[in-house]
Amino acid sequence: MHFVGYNVSNYLIGCVAFLTAAYVYGTWPYSYWRKRGIKGPPMYPFVGDLLSIVRHGFMKQTIDDINKYGRVHGTFLTRIPTLVVADIEMVRQVCIKQADKFTDRTQLGNQPSPLDRGITVLRGQEWRRVRNLMTPCFTSGRLRAMFPLIDDSARDLVAQLSSYIEQGNHDDAVFQPKKDFSNYTMDAIARTLFAIQINTHADPNNPFKVNAEMVFNVSLRSPKLILLLMMPKIVGPIYKFFNVNLLPQSCMDFFINSIRENLKIRRQSPDSSKFNDFLASCITAVDQTETIHDKQVKGLSEDEVVAQCFTFFLAGFETTANAMTFVAYLLALHPESQTRCFKEAQAAASSGKLDYEGVQELKYIGQCIDEALRLYPPVVFVDRMCNTTTTINGYEIEAGTSVRIPTHFLGTDPEVWGDDAAQFNPDRFSPEVAWGRDPLNFVPFGIGQRNCIGMRLAQLELRKGLAEVLLNFELLPNDDTPALGKLELKTTGLTATKTPINLRLKRRSAEK
Ligand code: HEM
Repeated sequence: MHFVGYNVSNYLIGCVAFLTAAYVYGTWPYSYWRKRGIKGPPMYPFVGDLLSIVRHGFMKQTIDDINKYGRVHGTFLTRIPTLVVADIEMVRQVCIKQADKFTDRTQLGNQPSPLDRGITVLRGQEWRRVRNLMTPCFTSGRLRAMFPLIDDSARDLVAQLSSYIEQGNHDDAVFQPKKDFSNYTMDAIARTLFAIQINTHADPNNPFKVNAEMVFNVSLRSPKLILLLMMPKIVGPIYKFFNVNLLPQSCMDFFINSIRENLKIRRQSPDSSKFNDFLASCITAVDQTETIHDKQVKGLSEDEVVAQCFTFFLAGFETTANAMTFVAYLLALHPESQTRCFKEAQAAASSGKLDYEGVQELKYIGQCIDEALRLYPPVVFVDRMCNTTTTINGYEIEAGTSVRIPTHFLGTDPEVWGDDAAQFNPDRFSPEVAWGRDPLNFVPFGIGQRNCIGMRLAQLELRKGLAEVLLNFELLPNDDTPALGKLELKTTGLTATKTPINLRLKRRSAEK
């Protein structure tokens, strides 16, 4: 009897100790900003403000927090203290003037192999080495050489949209831009990055498409992800040890094996110079050496090539498809802007110039793309991890603190963009109006040395794809297309609409 009582009390003491330890673990980081007198939203044990973000998305949450706690306030990314900075001069210090103290992105946990070698997550000198080796993949010469692959993808897109009209036997048809533009950017990425010739419009069960969709279906509500977000320091290493991936392993294997296979074919090809894609550039980077701080550093290993191809696919496919969807939506709601885009594309095409050079000259289409990226940036914030304690504008930012720059807020700040900041007005980006505006107010591709390396490829895909679509079709709102301001967004990951947008396509008559 005595022993039973002893065991019960030991058990109770154990429980209390465990619960106390769990409570302390679940709450201790959240006093960080309060101790420093910096305001911020309330945080709950273990989850911080995660529940609120899942409910409202990063975009709305950040705007509400800035309105309540100011342009500089403290929050947390999981347990990492994060200073939200929507003050342009501070952004300039973090991303440009003191960029060497903020080279890295914030990491939530260990990435599975080979993504842990991908450029987006690499740190310090390793990142610099890979960035220097990858930058030549996006020079004008390389992009010009890749252009025919984008051209082919745009042709397939137009053929697919035409087929909707032909099937319906009318001169118009309803379509979902997100679906068809995702197919277009997927085809373009498969061709330019993986050297795989696919037509996902005609072959929706193509393994490349099926696997890619599984990769992008990882939800913020996934229990594996929630556990990682709640206890990154504990769960991250456990996932690493047991090789637990947030992305389905079979999908990862599919992409890794196809890249390896293609690399092998290239290496064995007697005439490798005939290839003009990204993989060809990567192979050049394998044999190259790089000089950093007067030191010779090695080229890319094969594993690193695989990691970069996969990373570029993840970073480049959905972002570009979402951006293109938003431009199409905005043009359907603004017929006068759409007519200007059409006329510009028509003028370029009639002088035989929808080639690489001609596409760069599509100035007004470029302005419409910028305006869509301003209103709906696919990436709602840019973040940097501080590696050396510094003080900016009176705020001490300690090493290990993250800085979050809300791209959407900067792009819609009424103090900069005026009271009509929420309206679509591509003329904001005409050279006369844009002159004198601080470029840091519009940063959909990020800022400084760590900005989006694929920006020019994305612009090329967007301009070419949109020009070809507008040359052939008029875009109109459907009965159920939400009005501007009524579009419901999901911003827990990349910015997307909560439900797919429907638009109507009308074939342009030849004489227009
Ligand atoms: C409209 C399309 C796109 C948007 C809006 C976009 C946006 C961004 C943003 C905001 C960043 C973070 C930049 C920073 O931290 O300062 C980024 C990084 C990156 N993007 Fe893009 N991106 C797009 C398309 C692409 C494409 C097509 C590719 C590749 C083919 C790509 C590859 C990358 C990579 C590799 C990084 C990480 C760069 C580094 O860490 O050095 N992106 N992108």
